[in-house]
Parts: sequence; C-alpha cells; structure tokens
Amino acid sequence: MTTTDPVKLMKQEVGKAAASKVKSGMIVGLGTGSTTAYAIEYIGDRLKSGEIENIVGIPTSFQAEVLARQYGIPLTTLDVIDHMDLAIDGADEVDPNKNLIKGGGAAHTREKIVDSLADQFIVVVDSGKLVDRLGSTFLLPVEAMPMAITTVMKALEKLGGKPQLRMGVKKAGPVITDQGNMVIDVKFDSIDNPADLEKTINNIPGVLENGLFVGVADLILVGEVKDGQPSVREF
Ligand code: A5P
Repeated sequence: MTTTDPVKLMKQEVGKAAASKVKSGMIVGLGTGSTTAYAIEYIGDRLKSGEIENIVGIPTSFQAEVLARQYGIPLTTLDVIDHMDLAIDGADEVDPNKNLIKGGGAAHTREKIVDSLADQFIVVVDSGKLVDRLGSTFLLPVEAMPMAITTVMKALEKLGGKPQLRMGVKKAGPVITDQGNMVIDVKFDSIDNPADLEKTINNIPGVLENGLFVGVADLILVGEVKDGQPSVREF
C-alpha cells in the first residue's frame, strides 16, 4: 500500500534495502519492530518470486516469528545451526560509533543474542534515530526478573538513573516480555561510556539484559526522505 507518511516511507525503503542484502542459502536473524517488519515482508516477497531460495530465519521475538510465518520464511533455532550469515534489526537510537539503544519493543534480550551471533549485523533505522550521544532521546530499557524489580530499580538509581516500570497499553499492569519478565526504562542524564554502563547494569542481580548494544552493529542503513522521495544512506 502506498503512503505519504515520511517516517513510514523511510522505514519501508530501509527495510527493502536490508532485504536486498539477503542471498540464497543464508541463515538470517529476523529482528523486531516496525522497520524490521518491512524487511521480513520483502524477504518473503523475494522468496515467493523465486529471486532467492533456501532462506532460514531465526526470530528475535514472538512478533518476528508470527511475521516470518505470515510471509512464508522457514524458521529454525539457535540449537541446530552452526553459524548465522546475517541479522537485520531496528534500533531506537544510533550514535556516531554505531552503538545502539534497543528495546523499544521489549525484545532486546533475544535481539542481543541473535544479532551478536551473526557474521554481519545490519541495523535499519529512519534518520530520526540518529543521535550524537546515546540516551539523549530514548530511555534505556532493562529487562529484569519480576521478583527483583524493586532491588534492580534501587541499584539503577544508585547508578544515577531515573527508572520507571514500563506499563502495558490495552493491558492493566506492566509489560511482560516474551521471557515472562518486566522492563524498566531508565533515564540517564548522559551516557558517557556505553560499554561500561552496559556491563555494570548487566551485573546487577536480577537483570537479564539491557538495551545498550556496543560494538555489535556492522552496517547502519539510514532511511531518509527529501521532497517526498525516500532514499537510503549507509554508514
Ligand atoms: C525491539 O525491542 C526494539 O529493539 C526495536 O528493534 C526498536 O524498538 C526499533 O523499532 P522500530 O523499528 O519499530 O522503531
């Protein structure tokens, strides 16, 4: 369906560009979110048309799994593969060093497992996701076990963060992840050293994973739109 919404146009274009990097025979990590959803759709289209064949996907979430099935992409699990060629995933913020904040869809734990195992990790974003410093526009998601929510929030405060439990939409109470945990969104005034903060937060007992992805991304595809015309820039 055609759209004139610039953000949607950027997401579609960048999703298509990422899907075009998939070659026959590849094992592909399938990310989560509205941008990757377009990539999954276009990979499915290319499979259906016979342009590529023998693709197997590794989903990063229930959402990715459902979309892959919908668009006819066969799926497998990490247990039965010995490598992954490519992973395609979105992000909430991207800094000039290709470090990311992810987890807007509460899927960052499985995303980090899958994305970091791929030979090449391609990030698909619209230009609004580019920031000079991580944490400037987006809160940092932290997945934690329900029994440890209070103690994890206190530890995050000690690190200088302002934590808040992510609440559901059209669901009373907190967001529950695909793993049955909760998500704490943390405001940090400034994330000066993402690598250190990633490790420090993951060291808090009860934390499964946080949304800082440091040194994992290989290629960033940025969707842009000018005079209603979408294009893709790589860095
Ligand atoms: C999912 O948990 C996230 O990491 C997404 O990849 C991220 O929020 C980007 O989503 P959109 O493509 O919907 O902006």
